[in-house]
Amino acid sequence: MSDKKKILVIQNIHDAGIKLLKENPNYEFEIIEDVNPEVIKKKITECDGLSIRTAKLPDEIINLGKKLKIISRHGVGYDNIGLNSSKKNNITIAITATANAVAVAEHVMFMLLNISKRKNMYDNAVKKGKFNERNKLPKTIELWKKNVLILGFGRIGKALIKRFLGFEMNVFVYDPFVNSNEVENLGGKKIENLDESIKMMDAISLHMPLTEKTKNIINYDLLKKMKKNCIIINAARGGMINEIDLDKALNEDLIFGAGLDVFEKEPPEINNPLLNNEKVFLSPHTAAFTEECMKRMGMETIQNIIDFFDEKLDKSKTVKL
Ligand SMILES: NC(=O)c1ccc[n+]([C@@H]2O[C@H](COP(=O)([O-])OP(=O)(O)OC[C@H]3O[C@@H](n4cnc5c(N)ncnc54)[C@H](O)[C@@H]3O)[C@@H](O)[C@H]2O)c1
Repeated sequence: MSDKKKILVIQNIHDAGIKLLKENPNYEFEIIEDVNPEVIKKKITECDGLSIRTAKLPDEIINLGKKLKIISRHGVGYDNIGLNSSKKNNITIAITATANAVAVAEHVMFMLLNISKRKNMYDNAVKKGKFNERNKLPKTIELWKKNVLILGFGRIGKALIKRFLGFEMNVFVYDPFVNSNEVENLGGKKIENLDESIKMMDAISLHMPLTEKTKNIINYDLLKKMKKNCIIINAARGGMINEIDLDKALNEDLIFGAGLDVFEKEPPEINNPLLNNEKVFLSPHTAAFTEECMKRMGMETIQNIIDFFDEKLDKSKTVKL
């Protein structure tokens, strides 16, 4: 019998990551694209480690992995993984902690600029031969000297603050788990009371995990308090902005616009009203899909597995269970 470690790659990743496995004599691997739970249930029984992207890996499936020692997430969120079974079975969960902050931060800037400059309307005007109607188009807004709030000041929040400051925005941070010195040293100002401070923000960007506390954190009550020119971006996890409330607030002109990379249900239902709302700019959970980031994530996902078995996986790349 082979003493090679068996790695299950659930959902394919960048070739550069696969190459790390191919070239390492200590591993054999299988890539599965079919994420049907029945398929994963069969395969998980034999593997020592696995990598996974967005497919669901609930407790009852993880419990079948009798040899399983490491689950390596291609990404940083781990809300698709059963934590109870991982803890009970002493399974390490690794994340690609150094790979995707910049890509997501750039995506937020891309969304914010697109919404504030009403990209769709202006682009369409030229393409449809309506150049001369430019004075009739609704006005765009600047980012310069505007107040922006980062909700959640972790890896992505910290990559983002530099970009906001580059646009000479006043940056505020809401994160109960970081201290004000850390925020101030990076050029921001920490706020304590979300309900009060939200009234002065021109832009808000969400960068915390989806938890019981953060679910529906942006709801109609809060939307009602925002400035009419406020733009909200969610490139973190769906469910933190109540989508029905957001649609209502946009239709009532309570805020300027919203950018969403993530949805309560993915893919969103075809009758989700936000899909037809002109004030919304959408992307299909692709904030980290740059060529460079996919390569970094693919490599880090596999390197984390190799480092784990070599007993040198950095703790900062693992989830505290
Ligand atoms: N759209 C994408 O493709 C994409 C890619 C990467 C990450 N993400 C998501 O982005 C989010 C942030 O990722 P990260 O790598 O910066 O995570 P991180 O763990 O480095 O930072 C999260 C921050 O949120 C803070 N936080 C926790 N609960 C909070 C609360 N109730 N209120 C305010 N702040 C709170 C934490 O203190 C932490 O500083 C995660 O939800 C992740 O899943 C999305």
